Amino acid sequence: GDNVLYLAHKHGIDLEGACEASLACSTCHVYVSDGHFDKLPEPEEREDDMLDMAPMLQENSRLGCQII
Ligand code: FES
Repeated sequence: GDNVLYLAHKHGIDLEGACEASLACSTCHVYVSDGHFDKLPEPEEREDDMLDMAPMLQENSRLGCQII
């Protein structure tokens, strides 16, 4: 689908996404810019659990494959 991970790959942006959006990794970790972050729906619990394992976690961290 057209999630941020898919769009990154489509545009040649190097974002790993090892588990192909099945919420089993944190390699699609992205920082969402100010003004966009608050517009996104809250992450599901499974996304939060995976985010907790992401290196360099920030307030504006999300998993790219979960941003539609
Ligand atoms: Fe693995 Fe997003 S690609 S959680």
